Amino acid sequence: MKIAHKITPQMRMAELIDLIEETHHTFTRSELARISELIEDPEVAALPRLPELRACFQAINNDLVSHLQKEEQILFPYIALLDDDMRPLPSSCFSSVAQPMRVMIFEHKTLRELLITLRALTDHYQPKADDALQIFLLYASLAALDEDLVEHMHWEDDVLFPRALEEEKRRRS
Ligand SMILES: [Fe+2]
Ligand SMILES: [Fe+2]
Repeated sequence: MKIAHKITPQMRMAELIDLIEETHHTFTRSELARISELIEDPEVAALPRLPELRACFQAINNDLVSHLQKEEQILFPYIALLDDDMRPLPSSCFSSVAQPMRVMIFEHKTLRELLITLRALTDHYQPKADDALQIFLLYASLAALDEDLVEHMHWEDDVLFPRALEEEKRRRS
């Protein structure tokens, strides 16, 4: 799910947030639901490291559900108002956007570590030639989720968050 081609340097942060939510957040939620069913399919029971794989996926699932909710309900609404010069700085329960951002960056780090474990547990999402079709489907879905999450976290860590910090600083000076 590539959004790079839709992003322009002039794009307002509110638009960037809409794109992140419409593409990455929507995709993540639908894939998590789909993989939650696939990973319980009796046909994947042959996987030798299934209990660890299920535990790792469950940790990713749990972390992401609350992570996306925090971004959508707390951090993003504040950032979306920052690039509107006509409005006063939005009121919030934190002293600076840096505070919730630090929490999100820490959670991204935890997710990256979980993805490293997930890759190791699935041999980088490579099924064996004689594996069941459901295992092929599970690994392809996990690979797509991994790829999408890496891109998703890049747009937040490297583009949106630094811009929000800079904008908040400018508005306060
Ligand atoms: Fe996000
Ligand atoms: Fe995030």
